[in-house]
Amino acid sequence: MCGIVGYVGPKEAVSFLLAGMEKLEYRGYDSAGIAMLEKGEIRIEKSVGRLSFLEKIINQNKEKLTGTIGIGHTRWATHGRPSTINSHPHTDCDGNFVVVHNGIIENYQSLKEMLIERGHIFKSETDTEVVAHLLEELYDGDFLTAVQKTLRKLEGSYALVFLSKYQPDTIICSKKDNPLIIGLGDGENFVASDIPAIISHTRKTYILGDNETAVVTKDNVKVLDYRGVPVKKKIFEVEWDAQAAEKGGYEHFMLKEIYEQPKAIRDTMSGRIAKDNSKIVLEELNFSVEDINDIERIVIVACGTAYHAGMVGKYLLEKFARMPVEVEIASEFRYKDPIVNEKTLAIIISQSGETIDTLAAMKEAKKLGAKTLAITNVVSSSIAREADKVIYTWAGPEIAVASTKAYTTQLIVVTLLAIYFAQIKNTLSKEEIKELCQGLKFLPEQINDVLEEISPIKTFSKQYGFNENIFFIGRALDYAVALEGSLKLKEISYVHAEAYAAGELKHGTLALVVKEVPVIALATQEDVYDKMISNIKEVKAREAVVIGVAFQDDQEIEKHVDHVIRIPRANKFLTHVLSVVPLQLLAYFVAVTRGCDVDKPRNLAKSVTVE
Ligand code: M6R
Repeated sequence: MCGIVGYVGPKEAVSFLLAGMEKLEYRGYDSAGIAMLEKGEIRIEKSVGRLSFLEKIINQNKEKLTGTIGIGHTRWATHGRPSTINSHPHTDCDGNFVVVHNGIIENYQSLKEMLIERGHIFKSETDTEVVAHLLEELYDGDFLTAVQKTLRKLEGSYALVFLSKYQPDTIICSKKDNPLIIGLGDGENFVASDIPAIISHTRKTYILGDNETAVVTKDNVKVLDYRGVPVKKKIFEVEWDAQAAEKGGYEHFMLKEIYEQPKAIRDTMSGRIAKDNSKIVLEELNFSVEDINDIERIVIVACGTAYHAGMVGKYLLEKFARMPVEVEIASEFRYKDPIVNEKTLAIIISQSGETIDTLAAMKEAKKLGAKTLAITNVVSSSIAREADKVIYTWAGPEIAVASTKAYTTQLIVVTLLAIYFAQIKNTLSKEEIKELCQGLKFLPEQINDVLEEISPIKTFSKQYGFNENIFFIGRALDYAVALEGSLKLKEISYVHAEAYAAGELKHGTLALVVKEVPVIALATQEDVYDKMISNIKEVKAREAVVIGVAFQDDQEIEKHVDHVIRIPRANKFLTHVLSVVPLQLLAYFVAVTRGCDVDKPRNLAKSVTVE
């Protein structure tokens, strides 16, 4: 899970490489490096730590980097600890080839042993270095042929970009299960793991498919399939605004993305709710009654935050459409011999559309005969391309590692989907559908209201942000929100946070609730409100400090808790979209209070493209 860039053209490559890597730092940021072809030689600069360290080294160099062809990499370590030696690019013994890689070469150990036996000397602990030595081993006068032979020997996942001093005007790259795009310029071309790296240079791209290889020079891009047969690629025009991938005055991307939620939700609902609120329109699905009746079971597969959206999906699909739903953690699903067949609909939720666990789980479900429906934020991502049907969340680019607007737009899509199935199956009345549609349309404004009331949240983050343990409790949909709130807090502020179904506390965890431990108690589910109040009393009896999350007009709650965070009243099946927002803000302000790196939390990366 790393970021890759490449440039070939008339300009000095270094500025594009560094700027592009900065845009991709969300993919990994424990070390960085670049390689450049200059005067027929390969020149490499690398550094452990953030990209800024590498920039410093480059700026202090007496001999400036002037090459017009180069590649760069920001790393998230898999094989070998973060260090300058282990950072990419990697070379062969004689420095004739250089490579950057995103992914994992699963058979690297046996390849390494074979190469060592043949006299190759390794410098790093990485799996990637074998690729450079393999290239050296298999080179027989033609760069492309050597790359193709090398790729045939690799098992695992990769996006690989190569340079060779034998062909100093050419970048060769290839991918399998990890993303890679080619940006098409005028007399210059770009390679990158993701669009933000190239968007300020070109909107025209080729999205490489699995096992495709591209030969890129400044004036030409030739794409070949796994047999070496040329592929006619369609140009994919990027429609984003470059500004959308910048911070726009906010201190952190996360805060900006929290504030973008009303728009992201509006965009995601746009055209999907009838003007008269009579029905949900999901043209991308076009399911008939027979199609729906043919589904015996739904399995939702996802990781992390997307998994929490899946939990909400389960709740609503079962409630509205009366269909049985399981939610599975993608990394578990594939290895558990899942019960899936042609009568199963597998719903795959992934912001990036590139999470390898989720992608692999989807492939497994497909193999077993399931129909697949992806919910993703990235057009033409691997998951979008593999799925039978796709519903896009229109959240725009999400840069902060902690997912916020992508999550709330996933909530919107699973809610729309549950209503859509129910309207086909006739399990909700016309009045209920209308009420839900109206309620959905109110949400963007209601989130704005929550965003205007941030000062109590700031106060609580200062008051309780230095506690080492915080609990989140809730029932029904509030439980899914509690899980998401606790993940946000752990992820960016490194506070130990646990989320519990409130009724489950007394079965063990209550032992940890002692004097002054903060407990965030969500109380927005009217069907279980009284039960929730009883659970709040249980923690209050242990002298916990309770912060309730409740509706503006709830006068009961303040009798039982120490503080209240208020949200506007909403339809009881839509409150999850509102109640998560103060929890996102709480995690954000606690992280700021504790001086954490909000957008790039330690040990994590935005796009998890390793298993
Ligand atoms: O791109 P995906 O939605 O597939 O990513 C899944 C998780 O890695 C992701 O949601 C992760 O949990 C977030 N960093 C949480 O904020």
